[in-house]
Amino acid sequence: MSEIPRIRITDAAKYDGQTVEIAGWLYNLRKSGKIIFPLVRDGSGIIQCVGVKATMPEELFETLKHLTQESSLIVRGKLRAEQRAQGGYELDLESADVVQRVPEETPYPITPKEHGTEFLFDKRHLHLRSRRTHAVMRVRHEIIKAIRDYFDSNGFTLVDTPIFTPAACEGTTTLFEVDYFEDEKVYLTQSGQLYNEATAMALGKVYCFGPTFRAEKSKTRRHLTEFWMVEPEMAYATLEDVKDVAEGLICFVVQRVLENRRTELETLERDITKLEAIKAPFPRISYDQAVEILKRKGSEIEWGGDFGGTDETLLAEEFDRPVMVDRYPTEVKAFYFETDPERPEVALGVDVIASEGYGEVVGGGQRAHSLEVLEQRIRDHNLPPEAFDWYLDLRRYGSVPHAGFGMGVERTVAWLCGLDHIRETIAFPRMLYRTRP
Ligand code: 4AD
Ligand code: MG
Repeated sequence: MSEIPRIRITDAAKYDGQTVEIAGWLYNLRKSGKIIFPLVRDGSGIIQCVGVKATMPEELFETLKHLTQESSLIVRGKLRAEQRAQGGYELDLESADVVQRVPEETPYPITPKEHGTEFLFDKRHLHLRSRRTHAVMRVRHEIIKAIRDYFDSNGFTLVDTPIFTPAACEGTTTLFEVDYFEDEKVYLTQSGQLYNEATAMALGKVYCFGPTFRAEKSKTRRHLTEFWMVEPEMAYATLEDVKDVAEGLICFVVQRVLENRRTELETLERDITKLEAIKAPFPRISYDQAVEILKRKGSEIEWGGDFGGTDETLLAEEFDRPVMVDRYPTEVKAFYFETDPERPEVALGVDVIASEGYGEVVGGGQRAHSLEVLEQRIRDHNLPPEAFDWYLDLRRYGSVPHAGFGMGVERTVAWLCGLDHIRETIAFPRMLYRTRP
């Protein structure tokens, strides 16, 4: 028995015609008289097994025939190429061991029939075992790997930033407060940017990649309260550099997903032609132009306002690829933005709005690098100056123009997978009304 190689389903092609062992779970079971077809999944894929009553021990046949969904089992048999099978192979069952049988009295709650979204997310710890979720998680992994490869091969150093922070980066209304020791309060980070600015002055080009938190009180299909963000930051760089790097990154990531995750995109029924259209150069427009387009399309937006989700969707309709919108009103943007020297009422910031209505995936820009300007901004935004003293040091000791951005992983996953709601992009979503499981 120990001679039989234990393989993963994805590697089936390498063992064509051989007897192998697969350890997994019963995904589904079809029966037709004297033949059973257990569908076994092992995490890497799903394979159909074929059990013929006449060719196997009676007891084993009966055990498998009555096996319950998601029972764990180890199957052995010969792999046979089968054109019609997903993955291209079937396994002719010779023997099997049931590791744990799911009792009849407490059946696996997620059956092949349709379930409501709330139910599925209450059972998310089990829902992760479904074919669709596998596909999303694999695309997510591919995106994260591609992001890292992009920065690692373009001279950026990974320097991760703290999660407990003493101050707000993206406005005080979405802060999660945490009781630290004694009388101290800290906040969960909204963005690693301020720390990135310090590490960029040390290392030139850096990125951080980690979880970030926003106490978003709104229930939308684009917001999580805990999400992952990659944030590059570059010394001696401008708004235009941000656009170039963001464009390069997005194209690289999309290309990787198209190369390595076709099967998953097909499982998700993603329209691949839409992804193939994501190529440089991305259209680059100003906030002023965007407002013109939106008004023409019937939006209520007035110059000075921030775009809502609907505005982003309307804007995206105009283009077959992501659009970069720069120079938003200084008023609607965070305190740290550099302003346009010719038009101080607009900030040197850019948002990348994804195609097909998936919303803003990238936000960033050039940072104010004068000490006086920044001190004034901190006052204007009613931020506690003592919490920013270290940050102001960066403007006291060799301040230079610098710039960077943040790209949200979950927004990117939703977009590339074509998902209606961001909750599907992460194993255990955290939202206004969801903190469990
Ligand atoms: O535009 P944001 O708020 O920018 C920043 O945090 C900057 N400090 C980044 C930087 O310049 N280093 O967020 C950046 C991106 C958004 O474009 C979006 O993709 C994502 O983070 N994001 C969210 N994703 C999911 N849920 C939320 N609540 C999000 N808020 C922002
Ligand atoms: Mg933003």
